[in-house]
Amino acid sequence: MTAVTSRKMKARGGISWAVLGMMFLLPPTLTSAQSADQDITFARDIFPILQENCQNCHRDAGIAPMSLMTYEEVRPWAPLIQYKVVNREMPPWHIDRAIGLQKFKNDLALSDEEVTMISAWANAGAPLGNVADMPSPIEFSDASEWSYGEPDVIIEWNYRVRATGSDEWGELYSQDLFDQMDKPRYIKAIQIRAVDDASRRVVHHAMSYTSQGSANPDNDQFLIDYASGKSAEIYPDNSGVLLNPDNLVRLSYHTHSIGEVVDAKIQMGIVFYPEDVVPEHRRWTKLLGYSGSLLDIPAGEIVRTDGYVYFHDNATITSFQPHMHGMGSYQCLELIYPSSGTSAQTEMISCTNWDYNWHTIYNYADDVAPLVPAGTVAHIISYFDNTDSNPGNMDARNWAGDGRRTIDEMAFAFLGWYAMTDEEYLAEMERRNALNRGLASSND
Ligand code: HEC
Repeated sequence: MTAVTSRKMKARGGISWAVLGMMFLLPPTLTSAQSADQDITFARDIFPILQENCQNCHRDAGIAPMSLMTYEEVRPWAPLIQYKVVNREMPPWHIDRAIGLQKFKNDLALSDEEVTMISAWANAGAPLGNVADMPSPIEFSDASEWSYGEPDVIIEWNYRVRATGSDEWGELYSQDLFDQMDKPRYIKAIQIRAVDDASRRVVHHAMSYTSQGSANPDNDQFLIDYASGKSAEIYPDNSGVLLNPDNLVRLSYHTHSIGEVVDAKIQMGIVFYPEDVVPEHRRWTKLLGYSGSLLDIPAGEIVRTDGYVYFHDNATITSFQPHMHGMGSYQCLELIYPSSGTSAQTEMISCTNWDYNWHTIYNYADDVAPLVPAGTVAHIISYFDNTDSNPGNMDARNWAGDGRRTIDEMAFAFLGWYAMTDEEYLAEMERRNALNRGLASSND
């Protein structure tokens, strides 16, 4: 057992971890350390963790590159699985666990015990154990289905992407929504997706907005973005985004050509609150704290930029979604509270390791979602790593700056929030204080 522990300590955090894991997989004879860990088996201990936390993506037609549905499929990946879970790269949940709020509605992270168990199992040679211990397989729904129930409204855009040429950016407008809804409704959940494999290959990203037409796009209300790794957005139970039937929905797209003509198809699915329900709060999502225009990232260097946004009203921040490009390495949301004195009080809310493959939205649990008094400034801190040690960096010999191409950089966050009156704000403060003293029950 001691041998295992010291190996673990030496290897933690380094790439040599995977290599070490592989070396220990190879010898067929058992060392004493391995037989001690033999207790952890795939059938009884590991398979249920994969069912619960991995298979929804790692299955045929799932979004992940390989299926992890059977022992035969998992076994060759054991060393890399160990590396990815120990480094918290899989499941894709990149919140810094040492800083800020840790309670989310859509947390994908494994527990420390699960990580330790997977690691010890891989070290022990990834034993199968007794097949009779295997829980029965989970039936997953079709991967092309909507991830949050059948939508009430589906909006579709079609766009022919040419075979060759540089990337394209543009705007597409839907028809107005009167044929699908006849009065304003509140959105409960929303998802946007590229419908088939070919569309997924050419659509780099797409952002959607409700719009009254192209006259004044600045008034358009942001709805949701599509990018790799993004899933349905589900609003807190007491809030929704208002959608009017006389709106158009504007899709702001960015496509790549891939050597053949592709008729790209993008769909947005919207699930409404029931017709007679008006949620307590009207919710907003916006792209905020943009500091991209300040970006100056010399070759081989690590730099930081800072963006700020002022809250005119009291608010609850319900979600944080970082955004950078390939050189991005880390982004934080800090709050600078209003102060009558000379020094402002600040609070670090969340920090995330950045991986361009994952446009993850972090939905705060209702009982911890940051409450901000009017006059608060949200501070978005972004780090860019233009060195060879950043795996997302294509070429550390180049300068990089602000721009729309994937090889340019960007820095901002999407924040979701709803405004509160002074009475609502104080009532929620009271409720949270009572909760902290153990006098009230949780909303979560
Ligand atoms: C939300 C979907 C999703 C979940 C959940 C998920 N994965 Fe993944 N996984 C992916 C995707 C997509 C990739 C490829 C892109 C990447 O590496 O980020 C990937 C990559 C990997 C890789 C690296 C494969 C390679 O060739 O580099 C491993 C290993 C892995 N996942 C293991 C796991 C394990 C183990 C779990 C559960 C504990 C898990 N994943 C959960 C989607 C997911």
